[in-house]
Formats: sequence, C-alpha cells, structure tokens
Amino acid sequence: MALNIPFVVKVVLFFCLMNVAEAGVIEADNNRQPQQIHIAYGDDVSKMIITWSTFKDTASAVLYGLSSRNLSMSQQGSSSEFIDGGSEKRSQFIHVVELTGLVPNTTYYYVVGSGQGWSSVFYFKSMPAGEDWGPSLVVIGDLGSANAQSLPRLELDAAQGMYDAIIHVGDFAYDLQADNARVGDRFMNQVESLTATLPYMTCPGNHEYYYNFSNYRARFNMPNDNKKMYYSFNMGPIHFVSLSTEFLYFPYFGYNQIFEHYDWLKKDLMDANLPENRAKRPWIVTFGHRPMYCSNNDNDDCTSHESLVRVGVPMLNIPGLEPLFYEQGVDLSIWAHEHSYERLWPVYNMKVENGSYDEPYTNPGGTTHIITGSAGCSERVEYFEKNPPDWSAFRSSDYGYTRMKFFNKTHLYVEQVSDDQGGQIIDSFTLIKDQHGPFEKLKKTF
Ligand SMILES: [Fe+2]
Repeated sequence: MALNIPFVVKVVLFFCLMNVAEAGVIEADNNRQPQQIHIAYGDDVSKMIITWSTFKDTASAVLYGLSSRNLSMSQQGSSSEFIDGGSEKRSQFIHVVELTGLVPNTTYYYVVGSGQGWSSVFYFKSMPAGEDWGPSLVVIGDLGSANAQSLPRLELDAAQGMYDAIIHVGDFAYDLQADNARVGDRFMNQVESLTATLPYMTCPGNHEYYYNFSNYRARFNMPNDNKKMYYSFNMGPIHFVSLSTEFLYFPYFGYNQIFEHYDWLKKDLMDANLPENRAKRPWIVTFGHRPMYCSNNDNDDCTSHESLVRVGVPMLNIPGLEPLFYEQGVDLSIWAHEHSYERLWPVYNMKVENGSYDEPYTNPGGTTHIITGSAGCSERVEYFEKNPPDWSAFRSSDYGYTRMKFFNKTHLYVEQVSDDQGGQIIDSFTLIKDQHGPFEKLKKTF
C-alpha cells in the first residue's frame, strides 16, 4: 500500500535528509571514518602524538581516559590535505593530535575522529618518567604490505605486552606511494593493531624516496622532527637518534640537507654527551636505513669498504658518520636495507674493537652494529658473500626481527627472532658498558 504523504511534508523530509547527508552522518563510502591510526612519543614523557587519515575532511579530536568506559578527556588537533604525487593525485586528510599532560607510566584508552565518525577504542601506555626503568623495544626493517611475513608474530608479541615501542628502520609498504598511495593506505591499516597501541618510531628508507619522500613526511609525525626526517628522543636511560641516510643517496632532492643533517647530528650527540646528560642517559643508540657495513652478496653500497654512510664523500667535503660515532661514543647503531640480519663485532674503521677475546661486548672500543631488514616484503630475503669479513659476527637470511631489552644503564640485551623457525631466538648478545662516552677517552680508562 502506498503512503499518501502530503507535498509539504515531502519537501521538509527531502531537506532534512540532504542536511544529514551533508553532515556525513549518512556516508555510504566511509570517507569520514578514521583509519591508519598510529602513535608516536612526543618530546617529553607527558606527550603522545596521534595520527590518522580520513578521505574527506573532518574535525580532528581524540577522546581519552583511564577506562574505555570513561573517555572524559578530549584534545583537538588539526588536519591537512595530503595529495599523493601519482597520476590520480589521490587526496586524503591526515589528522594530528598531540596529547599533553599525560601522567607517566599510565594506560590511556582513546578513540579518534569527529562527530562524523569515531574509531574503535585503542589504548597506549604513556612513557615512564625518569631514567631508572628498562625499556623493551622491537626493531623491524623493510616491512612491506605484501609478504609481511613477520607481522602476525609481531602482533601476537605486542598483544602480550612484550614491548614499550616499535622502531621501524625504513622501507615501508613497498611502497607507500604505490598504486597511487593505495598500498601505503593498506599497509598503514595492516599495522594499525600494532601502531595504534605502541609508539611507532620511524626513519625513512630508499623506498620512501618518491616525490621527495612526500608520503613518508605526510604520514609520520615524529617528535622534534618538523618534517625534516631526522630527530632524537629520550626513553629511560637511552638517547635514541633517528637518522636519514637517504639524503646521501638522493642528492638531487637537496645537497644542503646532507650538511644540515650532519650538523644537527653532531650537535645532538654533543648535547647527549654533556656530563649531566650522559650520566642520566648513558646509552646512545642510532637508527638509520642504509648500513655502514654489511657482507651481503648484492653489491649494495654497504658491501664496499668506502660506503657513503661510513666515510661520506671526502672530495665534496661530505663527512662520514663513523668518525662522529666514534668521537661521540655511540653504543649501538641499528640499520636495515639488507633483507637479512647481521650482527657485527664492535668496530671502528673496519677494525674489530672487541672489549676482550672472551667478552667481546663488555666495554668494547667501538660502536656495535646490527642490520635487521628481514621483517618481510615482496622483494624477499637477501643472502651473504661466502666468507664473512673479520667484523661480521653472525648472519642469517631468515625472516624475522630484533628485540632489545635495556636492563639498566650498563646492560643491554639484544636477540634476533626467526619467523622462519617458528619464533626461535637464533642470536643474542649482551652489550655491557660500565662506562659510556667517547671511545678514545674510554680506551684510556680501561
Ligand atoms: Fe632499503
């Protein structure tokens, strides 16, 4: 039976529905629904940076609280339109909210979005205050959307509370901009269960280079970064430094940024070495995508004695990072790019600098390096040259990732998980430093 609705009522109903649709309440394609949610530490323990995307612009709000049933606090942020550089010029709105005034070491529940769509409830734990606690981190490198082999195991680890934060040492999605950035969107949603809960601390890799790293810059908001793609942050007894090795390999995006990056890094490390700072946070750990050293059989730059990251380009007065790391006493350098895992003996200028024959990682005379780029991607794994160089201590081409546990100011435990071998720990070592500081000075002490 047909309803006999008067004309005036029909007109009123029509305009009501128009308004509802315009407000996005009825939105068949979910374009205002938050997705790709990820968090990062802010520049002190009371802050957390929360980032997400929508395909139509909305307000940017985070509702949060100490229970999922009581999201009584709120913080507004802002959104900016990101247009991918591909042929479709696909657009999305990237929302950023910085939560401030968080109580350290406290679990917060949160949703992100606007009146036009809210996310599910996620939670994170704010960073504990001070230096006397032992951070646990997971380090991944070269994780793609396709063949993300380690991802399920990482998700399970994270769900069981194994980590305080994730470090991703470059090369995301393969690639963030692929298929007009749809692959990037898919990847950011794939990792969301990890990255909406654990601070996801990143650095750029070569796979992010398209359109001058625009996808990387737009999607990640790191502390003190200002979209320059390098930054540092403190976590308990550690000063972490995130590097951009890619400036050296893509100089046509800007020659000056190579020098700006180096100058910033030198100042950052010098500040970290001020006696009051190094006493509080003795560990200095760097992460950057392309290694100084590697013994793979693929002719990458790190296979050469004079890799750009290690020695720079002396003819052009571009300094290498290894002398700086030695001068400033960088304890551990983490790299990726090679789709494998390699642990080095402590090393400087190609020479092994073990603490002693029996205890190589106790008070070593140089930086210890690990290369961990086998989380899983469409390019599969990479293999090694037959005879390892003197500085190479352990190698594996299994898919996997790296765990780090900082027990205190003197003991750092590192282990390598093989996903191929069902989560077996295939390598581990403990770096012991009774004193931290410039290696030249330490040599005179021990
Ligand atoms: Fe790479």
